[in-house]
Amino acid sequence: MEARHIRKSFGSRILFDDSSFTVQRGERLGIFGPNGCGKTTLAKAILGEEGIEGDLFLSPSVNIGYISQDISDMDDYKKALELFRIPDRKKQGRVRTMLANLGINEVLLNKSLQDLSMGERTKLKLAKLLMGDYDLLLLDEPTNHLDLYTREQLEEALEEYEGTILLITHDRYMMEKICDKLLVFENGLIRRVEYGLAEYLNKTNEDRSDQEKAGDGPADEEERMVLENRIALVLSKLSDAVPGSEEYQKLDEEFNELISIKNRLL
Ligand SMILES: Nc1ncnc2c1ncn2[C@@H]1O[C@H](COP(=O)(O)OP(=O)(O)O)[C@@H](O)[C@H]1O
Ligand SMILES: [Mg+2]
Repeated sequence: MEARHIRKSFGSRILFDDSSFTVQRGERLGIFGPNGCGKTTLAKAILGEEGIEGDLFLSPSVNIGYISQDISDMDDYKKALELFRIPDRKKQGRVRTMLANLGINEVLLNKSLQDLSMGERTKLKLAKLLMGDYDLLLLDEPTNHLDLYTREQLEEALEEYEGTILLITHDRYMMEKICDKLLVFENGLIRRVEYGLAEYLNKTNEDRSDQEKAGDGPADEEERMVLENRIALVLSKLSDAVPGSEEYQKLDEEFNELISIKNRLL
């Protein structure tokens, strides 16, 4: 994907201007910026659903798997089960494992889609995306309605996924874990950054005051809550782990990472 001097405005409000970047096959980029900066708009432009100025070139062979913030695009199916009718027998095993991992059981699959909660719908949509033959996953707040357990399962599935990932999320820990590069919205510009979120936040710590706090109220609350839950979970796992073991070591690192991300939110 290549963006050359792209620009988007709604009326007199300019979301981004004169922004150029490329994304290569297999890269995993987080799309980061405060609420209302234009992340969803950029996602829609990539999908071709929103017009922008400048050139946004996508290799024509790219098959995009998209999950939108509001998952309103599943209403064509009546039953959950219909989403997973896959003729390929070899794939069926993989499908079943994936569904089980995400906590999708037979009862849920036989329910009518309109009776499902947002969390259940999100899980189904994600399972469907992860099992499809997509080269690019474009994920806009995929964890909004997910519990912590499912978030972890999703992270694992994304870590195994070999295609390109563009991820928008308020879950900073997830972004740090999945994405090693970023597209950041800064001062009306989208800039590509060659490192992950934790390093980016570190580097911008001194001059973040105006930029990051602007209009970011509810998101901060949600971010903080997710982090608190994650910290609680890691702590409970730590109390079961054997000090000195490899697992303990890993959990300890995770704990420290979570704390440092949390400290940057305060
Ligand atoms: N169709 C539209 N018409 C006018 N303004 C819009 C439209 N879509 C989005 N906006 C505005 O553009 C800004 C960026 O929106 P959005 O891309 O959803 O931000 P983000 O996903 O980063 O929170 C917001 O101020 C939003 O109100
Ligand atoms: Mg958005």
